[in-house]
Amino acid sequence: MSVIVLLEIERGVREVLTHVKENHVNQIRGLCGAPEEPVCMGMDEPLNKLKIELMKDGVSVLFLTGLGGSGKNHSCQEALSTNPLIKDKFGGNIFFVTFSKTPNVSYIVQRLFEQCGHGLQVPDFQSNEDAINQLGHLLSQFERSKILLVLDDVWPGSENLVEKFKFQLPDYKILVTSRVGFRRFDTLCQLGALDHHSAWTLFRHFAQLNHNSSFMPDKNLVDVIVTACKGLPLALEVISGTLRNQPFETWQNMKERLTCQSILESNRKDLLCLQQSFDISEDIDKECFMDMGLFPEDQRIPVTVLIDMWAAMAIVHDSITRNLIDVIATRKVATGTDTYYNNHYVMQHDLLRDLAIHQSKGEPFEQRKRMIIDLNGDTRPDWWIGLIVANWMRKHTNNKLDV
Ligand SMILES: Nc1ncnc2c1ncn2[C@@H]1O[C@H](COP(=O)(O)OP(=O)(O)OP(=O)(O)O)[C@@H](O)[C@H]1O
Ligand SMILES: [Mg+2]
Repeated sequence: MSVIVLLEIERGVREVLTHVKENHVNQIRGLCGAPEEPVCMGMDEPLNKLKIELMKDGVSVLFLTGLGGSGKNHSCQEALSTNPLIKDKFGGNIFFVTFSKTPNVSYIVQRLFEQCGHGLQVPDFQSNEDAINQLGHLLSQFERSKILLVLDDVWPGSENLVEKFKFQLPDYKILVTSRVGFRRFDTLCQLGALDHHSAWTLFRHFAQLNHNSSFMPDKNLVDVIVTACKGLPLALEVISGTLRNQPFETWQNMKERLTCQSILESNRKDLLCLQQSFDISEDIDKECFMDMGLFPEDQRIPVTVLIDMWAAMAIVHDSITRNLIDVIATRKVATGTDTYYNNHYVMQHDLLRDLAIHQSKGEPFEQRKRMIIDLNGDTRPDWWIGLIVANWMRKHTNNKLDV
């Protein structure tokens, strides 16, 4: 998978919300002259249900669920940005925030204040409860009462927190997206796998298969690869992007990898399927890809940071750095004068981040180039405490101790 493919796979909901708010433009461009986002393929039924529910009056919590990479964000984007009735109903009052596995309440409310506070300074919150109360108060003062709050990537265990955002306002919807189902919410829209026809169309689109292609794989070969992606849009996008403009041997290699027994038997078929793209990538791309796993989940990564990091580590050849810069230069946020990429950001898909972390963990602990630790609360792994003690000892014994 090239860095380019990786960077193309970014999530656009925030962009859409900005568009909805600014009330202009109906097209979101991809990166790098990448194929523009195709319309939402094969999701008519859940999307229609979602649109109908959003148009109803009153307070409700809608729930959009589906596997990782099944298109939850993509379909939100589609529902919120293309339907004139929904745009009319909510106007600029659509707010988006990511929960992730361990939601930080005051961070979440701060982000929401920034979006809906119309330039108001974000207040200091005394407690999580105070933060949520102040948000409720702010929303209740809105002149236009129809409000939609999108809580993205909610994990089991956060249901009570979602309930706290259920303010009693005249016409207020919360749209929760999650990979797993919760029973307690009002309405469920479930995304399944794409049917073969939609999967084929999506694959063809991202692989840029047309009569100008240098190599045109035969239908059977494409069929096998598309089938192996199991109708998962992210897998279709990554695998097709990897095969774009590649010779027959690469296609054949991918087919063999995707149909081998270990994938079929794995319980993480999604990751293993994406891993095939990783495995056939050049070493330099692998390094860059794994570096992306070092960044926090669901947060924007400043492009300048990537460029500085890769340039400093000299892992990226100058021509590739330039290529990367060109990719990012086509970002919508680019301004004509911003030649240093100060205003450019990328976001990586969380499944791709999972894959990068999974790859890093494949190496023996002592040989890992990257240290990625899942910290939860105040608990620290034993080796971490050992390291801190060793450093302390070294400092206080003038390096005389050999710990
Ligand atoms: N129906 C679709 N048509 C075209 N492209 C799609 C479709 N669904 C998803 N995609 C593309 O697949 C990729 C993954 O989709 P998306 O980020 O929406 O998944 P997700 O369900 O939100 O995943 P996660 O649970 O990991 O957050 C995106 O790049 C998106 O553009
Ligand atoms: Mg998502």
